[in-house]
Amino acid sequence: MCGIFCITTKIKKDAPARVLEGLKGLEYRGYDSWGIATLSPDSDSTLIDKETGRLTDVETDLVGDVAIGHTRWATHGGVTKENAHPHTSCDGTIAVVHNGIIDNFQELKEKLLEEGHEFKSETDSEVIPHLLENHDFMTVFNMLSGLNAVIALNKNTKEIWAAKTGSPLVVGFGEDENYLASDASALLPLTKRVYFLHDSEAVRITADSVTLFDLETGNKKEIQTTTLEGDVSDAALIGYDHYLIKEVSEQPSVIRAIIQDGREDIERLARVIKRSYGTFFVGCGTAANAGLAGVYMFSRIARRHVNLATGSEFKYLIDFVTRGSLVIALSQSGETIDTIESVKAAKKNGATIASIVNVPQSTLFRLADTRMLLRAGPEKCVLATKSYMAKLSIMYLLAHELIGEYEKANEFLQEVALEVEDFISGARHEQVKALADKLSDKEDLYLIGRGPSFADALEGALKIKEVTYIHAEGFAGGELKHGSIALIEEGTPVVVFAPYDETYDGIISNAMEVKARGAYVIGISPKNHDVFDEHIKVKDIMHASNLVNIVPMQLLSYYMALNRGCDPDKPRNLAKSVTVR
Ligand code: F6R
Repeated sequence: MCGIFCITTKIKKDAPARVLEGLKGLEYRGYDSWGIATLSPDSDSTLIDKETGRLTDVETDLVGDVAIGHTRWATHGGVTKENAHPHTSCDGTIAVVHNGIIDNFQELKEKLLEEGHEFKSETDSEVIPHLLENHDFMTVFNMLSGLNAVIALNKNTKEIWAAKTGSPLVVGFGEDENYLASDASALLPLTKRVYFLHDSEAVRITADSVTLFDLETGNKKEIQTTTLEGDVSDAALIGYDHYLIKEVSEQPSVIRAIIQDGREDIERLARVIKRSYGTFFVGCGTAANAGLAGVYMFSRIARRHVNLATGSEFKYLIDFVTRGSLVIALSQSGETIDTIESVKAAKKNGATIASIVNVPQSTLFRLADTRMLLRAGPEKCVLATKSYMAKLSIMYLLAHELIGEYEKANEFLQEVALEVEDFISGARHEQVKALADKLSDKEDLYLIGRGPSFADALEGALKIKEVTYIHAEGFAGGELKHGSIALIEEGTPVVVFAPYDETYDGIISNAMEVKARGAYVIGISPKNHDVFDEHIKVKDIMHASNLVNIVPMQLLSYYMALNRGCDPDKPRNLAKSVTVR
């Protein structure tokens, strides 16, 4: 979480303004507050501009040929100007931006206080500039425990240093200028030539040099750069009001991209799955919900058992992961710390690692023995939508590849893409919009599904919660009467996923049970039924029902968020990449 960015240039004195622009491209990592630091020959210390709130429409008067910047997702210390980065040394000559959590900061801070250092913030990060008053950068970074990425700007040495362990950091190479950013996507407008820092590496950068060091030995290392793929325009809003609706609308193209060129990766992944004794899907949030859908798909389609573990819990299940096990990490960003730590722990136990991620060269991409890209293009909205669709499409194909039916499934996905497209561009879109008007004032919303649709219920609830702040919960339909049905009152909206499959009769019974207690029942189903107060028709697409069932919920979340005055792209308290435990 938190975005960090840096430019050092020979070209012009506009580095601070350009860092602000760069930070705007990283704002999805955190948007509680922002800040930049630069150097000026007219000042004895670094010059700082920082403020609480979002970066939209922010400008800076600072000028300079070097600048570092930060956009914050608060961990230690509230959302205040004092806690916003950069943080500085006592005399203001050293400025630091930081992403991560310094586990031993209390201990370090106490010592620094004893030595007479004065702290201005409640953050863990502020220990770094104070430590830098007495030690060189690499020594200081090695004193920090936890998962951290740091950039330091020093007025005395005129140097910029950066290092990382756990949290991501990318170096960008330009003409007479160089850059650093937490995500490669933020560098795309500036350069395609990059180097992804590995853990325990440090870098010293100037406008015309980049020097890489091993943090353990202090020795210099050779840099091998990578060329980024993609285009800046992929991440632009072009004609949409928000990324959420743009990315939901892109889903048919995402399915088609996988249909068109996913085969080789899927065949390779299927071979690894066939060889494994025990396969685990690991992911967090939406990625975990995709994993759950995958568990059902693998069971129904390929008659194969796959385990699902949420990233933050997997470390407690690791004991029975062994050399024969396969862990498949599911992640949009490839930087979710709980998923990364799961993978590292499984690797230690000898397991094979596969990753299905959206961001090329991300940590999970690099940690894996076998990897596949989601091909969803940049996902800027904090809510995961098209990356979810990509994961579902890949798992659907994977399950079919395991039983030799790839071609058939691939062809069928064309139909799915058409149905998703038709839903988004047709009358049903308007129907969902009107439904949003009815539901936007509700305090609670429940969603039920059986079998694979249980994943739809969880994912639908997550979308509603995170962007409308309405209490929403997804349940397995059969579980309701074991307690949760007590929540249903007159008029409580309940979304019922009723694909026309073996779950149909059971879920309709559950719909009747809630209706008998006063629920307003919204059925997402190929068939209308008397129990539905509102019927949203989706095409019967059998084992691919997850792919179409989620679309009405994504649209509903969007329109309910708009009705409630919530920001669809940057919901409160959230950040897109969760890089802290
Ligand atoms: C929900 C959402 C989160 C992410 C989760 C994992 O809309 O975006 O639940 O799915 O934080 O992120 P990745 O997929 O980047 O590992």
